[in-house]
Amino acid sequence: MQSYHEFLSEVLIPEQELQEKIQQLGEEISHDYNGQDLHLVCILRGGVMFLTDLMREITVPHSIDFMAISSYGVGDRQASGHVRLTMDLRDDIQGRNVVLVEDIVDSGNTLASVLGLLATRKPASLKVCTLLDKAERRETEVPLDYVGFVIPNKYVFGYGLDLDEYYRELPFIGVVNEDRYTPPDS
Ligand code: IMP
Ligand code: MG
Repeated sequence: MQSYHEFLSEVLIPEQELQEKIQQLGEEISHDYNGQDLHLVCILRGGVMFLTDLMREITVPHSIDFMAISSYGVGDRQASGHVRLTMDLRDDIQGRNVVLVEDIVDSGNTLASVLGLLATRKPASLKVCTLLDKAERRETEVPLDYVGFVIPNKYVFGYGLDLDEYYRELPFIGVVNEDRYTPPDS
């Protein structure tokens, strides 16, 4: 596999900026859930790095769980928004205060679908925390309670987000060089 440098056009959000923002989000969530039960739900795989950093900034005792989904579509790189659950949560969320932790909200279709599913399980409350918000791409309105960064309509990678499954390990968010990598149409 080539070095990520091959595909990087620019660093959009450097590591320190990410970490400062995550600290702020952690403080906000800690304030909002002070004295309450808190359960973080992460959608695999993109949200994992954000979740683990965010957890360290949340001072309220909390539990975590994971789910995985795949988008229906013609090609397997397609993000159509019709999601299929490929791995369900381990624990019941009925009566829990759930915060869904996401890497990025683009069209909003995926999130809308997941929120609809989770709502049927009767959590006490259900909020969303996303690191990135590509607001101008929204097709389905979704309530975002905690947002790290509103970003322009550019394909990004790093910090959990992949290019064909690679480079999730990068500590920053980079913009892809579209002369070298063609993003999946979504
Ligand atoms: P949505 O259903 O259009 O909101 O798509 C959300 C999903 O698309 C995210 O969870 C990501 O997996 C993927 N996605 C959208 N934009 C990007 C991007 O710029 N880089 C990497 N993945 C992206
Ligand atoms: Mg995702």
